[in-house]
Amino acid sequence: MRSHYSGALTKEQVGQEVELCGWVHRRRDHGGVIFIELRDREGFVQVVFEPDLPEIFQTAETLRSEFVLKVKGRVRNRPDSMVNPNVKTGAIEVVGEQLILLNRAETPAIPIVDNQGDVSEEQRLKHRYLDLRREDMQYRLRFRAQTSSILRRYLDNNGFLDVETPILTKATPEGARDYLVPSRTHKGSFFALPQSPQLFKQLLMMAGFDRYYQIVRCFRDEDLRADRQPEFTQLDIETSFMDEEAIMTFMENMIRQLFKQQLGVELPNPFPRLTYKDAMQRYGSDKPDLRFDLSMVDIADVVSNVEFKVFSGPASDPKGRVAALKVPQGAKNLTRKQLDDYAKFVGIYGAKGLAYIKVNDREAGIEGLQSPIVKHLSPEICETVLERTQAETGDLIFFGADNYKVVCEALGALRIKLAEDLGLIKDEWKPLWVVDFPMFEEVDGRLHSLHHPFTAPAIESIDDLRNQPRDIISRAYDMVLNGSEIGGGSIRIHTPEMQQAVFELLGIGSEEAKDKFGFLLDALKYGCPPHGGIAFGLDRIVMLMTESTSIRDVIAFPKTQSASCPLTEAPSIVSPEQLTELGIRVASVKKESDG
Ligand code: AMO
Ligand code: AMP
Repeated sequence: MRSHYSGALTKEQVGQEVELCGWVHRRRDHGGVIFIELRDREGFVQVVFEPDLPEIFQTAETLRSEFVLKVKGRVRNRPDSMVNPNVKTGAIEVVGEQLILLNRAETPAIPIVDNQGDVSEEQRLKHRYLDLRREDMQYRLRFRAQTSSILRRYLDNNGFLDVETPILTKATPEGARDYLVPSRTHKGSFFALPQSPQLFKQLLMMAGFDRYYQIVRCFRDEDLRADRQPEFTQLDIETSFMDEEAIMTFMENMIRQLFKQQLGVELPNPFPRLTYKDAMQRYGSDKPDLRFDLSMVDIADVVSNVEFKVFSGPASDPKGRVAALKVPQGAKNLTRKQLDDYAKFVGIYGAKGLAYIKVNDREAGIEGLQSPIVKHLSPEICETVLERTQAETGDLIFFGADNYKVVCEALGALRIKLAEDLGLIKDEWKPLWVVDFPMFEEVDGRLHSLHHPFTAPAIESIDDLRNQPRDIISRAYDMVLNGSEIGGGSIRIHTPEMQQAVFELLGIGSEEAKDKFGFLLDALKYGCPPHGGIAFGLDRIVMLMTESTSIRDVIAFPKTQSASCPLTEAPSIVSPEQLTELGIRVASVKKESDG
């Protein structure tokens, strides 16, 4: 139907006859001449309809926004005074010679041309087919397609095989709640949608494929946030006979190439690495944002004997932490109200307060400090804290004292909030690897895997694992970019004995292990190669690279925060017949009006 895309026309076509198809983007009636901006996926071009072709002109007069047209016409240069340098096709226009109205459109339910202004996201998602017509959404989805394509090409060129794995499967332990699908043929039994293809990709290594990848949907029923969706896409990868060094180097190269090709950005080579422990000590997070310098220092050793119980309590508790976070020039720049707001903010993370010291005059000793807590501390202690934080006149120091987790989370979140509020975040890309994760974390006396239960410990002997499970480091690695975890993986356990031992430590007895993972334990007995891999969050990578604020903006048809789809109105109630067929009775249906 068409010879060119409207948005792709250039001066090269001047003088040529072209056929264009697309939507009416804007229409202007300049008394006697009608200008239509004809839009397609490449952009738009101005089409001029002049009254000397009365029949066409009459049709042109009836055109409205989003009508679908076919136009035949000749490309010409615009007069100099009419050139629009802000538009790709701003130097040319098409003189309409034929006009076919292919379809009419009602007034769009949400604006397409102009800034969305105050259109709610609910409305955007409800009319997603209109929302997606907008230039920024077209850009994001195209960027996403190019990203997948570059990643695929890299992996294809390096001998990776794209293998599909089941969607109807058995629970996979990535730590979230499962989405379940009832079985009609086995009433009372359920499939689980995969939280990741973890076990299948390991089985593919055992099957000898050596290098696997898949761009694959994963399903996790968890609390949603700006960078989380219940169904999201992983670039999932697994290899045999490669150690963590080889895997990390290979993956870095892939991400470097992606950034180079898509954004023209050279990422560092190699990516810096941080141990989990250092990341937590300095940044209170295992996915630190390194685009700004704020970092925490520990002062438990300094304050373990002070009278001030708020500090000395956690300082002398092996599970406690007392840390300081210095804000350069914070004494000058932060208001009393901000300090109160920050104290409230850290409360979200369980902190019971937010002590601070303003360093009004570093030379004046304790006299130069302004703080609700210096009265509880000796001048010597204050001096040591100032030295350790390298505080200078004008700085402000925040303190967190509690159990280790609360202090990390509270000051870690405060660090980011301060950077945002004070405009400290530099416009740059800061990738890194976080390594040396503990194998387990202890919650209420029980061990949990920090990654998943198939991650190998960084030891050979099962006895070491059993004797000191809390001290064991795993062979896992996370790739972090600008404070976001974009990928995570590990070397896997490849013997049945080690796998059993890890299950035992996790409180998964042999019966349960057989029931849930019997197929894996069996497969491990038949010559399993050492193997490992990683999975990247494709949505997150695209979200960061397109500087989108929400993961929903890089997914064509995403779910809302409450895991529903305003467009299709899924999930929805099903008929009693369907339920009967599945052998399911619904206990109570929550009506929309119940909130
Ligand atoms: P993990 O659980 O770390 O690892 O997931 C890998 C990456 O997927 C992304 N991601 C998400 N993105 C959007 N919405 C979500 N709900 C969501 N959850 C995770 C993150 C994360 O880094 N099987 C292992 C990988 C492996 O060991 O090879 C796994 O799934 O960017
Ligand atoms: P006061 O109540 O006058 O002795 O001072 C207590 C100060 O310590 C206040 O500024 C509190 O916000 C702060 N504070 C209380 N609990 C904690 C905590 N767990 N960590 C950090 N600061 C705290």
